[in-house]
Amino acid sequence: MSTELKNVEYGLEKIFEGAQDFLPLLGTDYVEFYVGNAKQAAHYYKTAFGFQSLAYAGLETGVRDRASYVLVQDKIRLVLTTALNSNSPIAEHVKKHGDGVKVIALWVEDARKAFEETTKRGAKPYMEPTVEKDEFGEVVRSGIHTYGDTVHVFVERKNYNGPFLPGYKEWKSEYHPSPVGLKYIDHMVGNVGWGEMNQWVKWYEDVMGFVNFLSFDDKQIHTEYSALMSKVMANGNGRIKFPINEPAEGKKKSQIEEYLDFYEGPGCQHIAVATDDIITTVTKLRERGVEFLSAPPHTYYEDVPKRLGKHVDIFKEDIQVLEKLGILIDADEEGYLLQIFTKPVEDRPTLFYEIIQRMGARGFGAGNFKALFESIEREQALRGTL
Ligand code: FE2
Repeated sequence: MSTELKNVEYGLEKIFEGAQDFLPLLGTDYVEFYVGNAKQAAHYYKTAFGFQSLAYAGLETGVRDRASYVLVQDKIRLVLTTALNSNSPIAEHVKKHGDGVKVIALWVEDARKAFEETTKRGAKPYMEPTVEKDEFGEVVRSGIHTYGDTVHVFVERKNYNGPFLPGYKEWKSEYHPSPVGLKYIDHMVGNVGWGEMNQWVKWYEDVMGFVNFLSFDDKQIHTEYSALMSKVMANGNGRIKFPINEPAEGKKKSQIEEYLDFYEGPGCQHIAVATDDIITTVTKLRERGVEFLSAPPHTYYEDVPKRLGKHVDIFKEDIQVLEKLGILIDADEEGYLLQIFTKPVEDRPTLFYEIIQRMGARGFGAGNFKALFESIEREQALRGTL
């Protein structure tokens, strides 16, 4: 497998200069999951991933049709929402997809303008601009549909100082497992159907003003058995990065196809969260029962100095420790990165997490694709879906 990144230009200024500024994004505001049992899912994210209780909405706060638990760790906010009756669109979503990401919410200065600019360019409306108020001020939200049943919600919160959003109350808990060092969302990956990647790349360009700054084709991303294609989309300031994957033909079933089969359509495949000390983070996550893909063979770690190239002198980590924890290493022109992938966090083989520590590198671990996908294929073989 080639690990060269063709058609790639590094240097952020250059990469993003083509991006349009009609949709300025300040960052990821929150990620909302529709799940079968939000109370238990919230406990899992606290216990296993070290999130803290932030806010709650449900019967006790006057909400009759759903319960939502909001969790926080540094800049990351997760919302876990469940339906309180079978007629709810939330229940329909869970019935079809299992637990999964419904909302990728983006923090904006002006949610009305974000709605207007994106729908004018062809986005399908999900939520008309809506003002929500409580004693802490007001929030304006609007939303558009993206791939599958996933949506983007634009959140304008400059006139709000409550715990999360109007309608939510502070969630006071006596249970505070320690954080594991997760800092912010580095990127979120969408899996789309056969032959649909370029249409979604164009949608992010046209509707959201994003640019395509990295591309990997099936010649680059393949193992002996399976393949996929991927293009990374980024907004103008580079804070929001959405790689888009589609399956490609191989001797056996692509992991993307497995996802599409079990999620019953396109959806969010993985959320990459950044840490600045991956060894400590992964050690804690493993102690708390988070399961990771198996480590590549020992020869992979023997090759690390070669892979680091000119960055070998700044490399501080102990390779033996990285090997013991199963952490992968990749390098590009500007530096290196360390990454590891969890197994899916629900029973369907769908959403999983990546933990990433960037030491200058801006890539996505292309040098690890082969080792990573062979590890995924070992899991697929166990599930009988390879
Ligand atoms: Fe990733």
